[in-house]
Amino acid sequence: MKIGVYPGSFDPITLGHLDIIERSLKIVDKLVVGVLENSSKTPMFTLEQRTALIRKACEDLGDRVEVVPFSGLLVNFLKEQKACVNIRGLRAVTDFEYELQMAQANRSLYPPMETIFLTTRAEYAYISSTVAKDVLRFGGDVSHFIPNNTIEMIYSFRRQ
Ligand code: PNS
Repeated sequence: MKIGVYPGSFDPITLGHLDIIERSLKIVDKLVVGVLENSSKTPMFTLEQRTALIRKACEDLGDRVEVVPFSGLLVNFLKEQKACVNIRGLRAVTDFEYELQMAQANRSLYPPMETIFLTTRAEYAYISSTVAKDVLRFGGDVSHFIPNNTIEMIYSFRRQ
């Protein structure tokens, strides 16, 4: 069984992330969405909230998707999950330099690991968690940015 990891901060999960998750299922038998706990960024949503939002967004995708929080090095998480591939989305060329550096650093830490990049669908290229958070902060319509079935939950987290 081919297991892939799709790691990220997911603060919060966006339509672009969900698209990458769905398309990854054409490549791997099982996808573990790894939710980073110890990000250097200060998240808007707690680890538990980010995890709950991803689980809600993926509820129709079946048991080939698992959402698992992690902390520490990605390579160790990959080993724990017995995954052979790390999946990342690329929106634009501006993402590439950082992604290449991470992929190479990860390979030097754990040579068997492969990183593959899926290019974001053009209609989602402008979407990021940062933009979604700004829209949320200032009361805009988030339905263009985050999965529909997470909207209610995200507003309830904002009210807490
Ligand atoms: O959604 P993000 O914030 O772009 O995801 C970044 C992520 C989680 C993939 C990256 O920060 C990561 O792998 N962090 C874990 C720590 C680690 O392994 N760092 C070394 C890789 S260069």
